[in-house]
Amino acid sequence: MKKIRVRLGQNGYDVLIGPGLLSETGRLLKDLGCNDKAVIITDPTVKNLYGISLRQSLTGNGFKTTLLEIPEGEEHKSLETAGRLYQELTDAGAERGTPVLALGGGVIGDVAGFVAATYMRGVPLVQLPTTLLAQVDSSIGGKVAVNHSQLKNKIGAFYQPRLVISDITTLQTLPPSELTSGLGEVIKYAVIRDAEFLGYLEEHLDRIKALDAGVFEHIVAVSAKIKAEVVEKDEKDTGLRNILNFGHTVGHAIETVTEFRISHGQSVAIGMMAAVLIASEMGVFENSDVVRIRKLLRRAGLMTKMPKVELGRVMSAMTHDKKVAGGKIKFVLPRAIGDVFVTDDVNMTLVEKILSRT
Ligand SMILES: NC(=O)c1ccc[n+]([C@@H]2O[C@H](COP(=O)([O-])OP(=O)(O)OC[C@H]3O[C@@H](n4cnc5c(N)ncnc54)[C@H](O)[C@@H]3O)[C@@H](O)[C@H]2O)c1
Ligand SMILES: [Zn+2]
Repeated sequence: MKKIRVRLGQNGYDVLIGPGLLSETGRLLKDLGCNDKAVIITDPTVKNLYGISLRQSLTGNGFKTTLLEIPEGEEHKSLETAGRLYQELTDAGAERGTPVLALGGGVIGDVAGFVAATYMRGVPLVQLPTTLLAQVDSSIGGKVAVNHSQLKNKIGAFYQPRLVISDITTLQTLPPSELTSGLGEVIKYAVIRDAEFLGYLEEHLDRIKALDAGVFEHIVAVSAKIKAEVVEKDEKDTGLRNILNFGHTVGHAIETVTEFRISHGQSVAIGMMAAVLIASEMGVFENSDVVRIRKLLRRAGLMTKMPKVELGRVMSAMTHDKKVAGGKIKFVLPRAIGDVFVTDDVNMTLVEKILSRT
């Protein structure tokens, strides 16, 4: 097992990564000093796969558990779902010290996290991420949110979990498309912060695809450590945390225009490709590294070319993104592998030209 500490003073917590950890949850919760009730929030697929073993671990350690289910899908990351969960928490007798356990992917983590942040002004939150994306990204950093009137993550809070337990065994049952999507974010971490990690991914991609547990543990741990380090320096997203948006300027626009038919990681992969090409065209990034990144993304099963969408709509979605400040579109561009910078000084004609070619 690997343990990564997210150092945020009183809000600090551990991220535990390893095989079979779900069955240790009861003991780990006891160590946190939680009271003897626990509420699990999950979706039907994850419940069927992991609900029983999680409950056994909790009841075996003296917890009275309630399991609340929400339907799968981004559309259920809503205030309506949150409202229903508040009622169900009340019915289950949840109190200030009752931990909420978010068992599932990023949708569950975000909505259960939002509910934990707001129910009785905040109850302990434990993230139990079961997708690669959730283990490397959404479970760490304390951003919790629901969508509102077509706007993603519009209503939310910064609310750090008390503990993150990433059981890498759960990745064995992920649909291949979810694994590929998560790999987009893993490759992102390598490009923004860690050249050596990029080399590791190039070398071990075949073992990742073969679902090698040791390799999973390593890639989740390295990614989680990078995310933790960035969050520690910028908990409330006012500076450095921006670099995590590498590939996301174009990526979010693709998600919006395709109405989320193209997955997040896949959209980010296309966005990363656009960013490296922009940097190369601006003369700040080596072309040989562009070739290297393209090759890795493709080997991972990610598309690097723009989907068949109207370019004008992608350009316009970029301008309307919530992250645009004062009309200036921010890009995260690489200088070298492992080193990126944030700029709002990118010529949009160049962006359009690159996108029309990719
Ligand atoms: N809070 C943050 O910082 C942050 C960061 C990135 C993304 N997000 C959010 O995360 C969400 C996307 O999360 P996601 O990609 O994990 O998708 P998801 O939560 O929708 O999960 C994808 C699917 O995988 C299934 N699943 C989950 N674990 C499984 C397993 N082990 N085996 C088999 N099936 C499993 C789920 O039932 C679901 O159908 C988005 O809402 C996004 O906004 C949040
Ligand atoms: Zn992302």
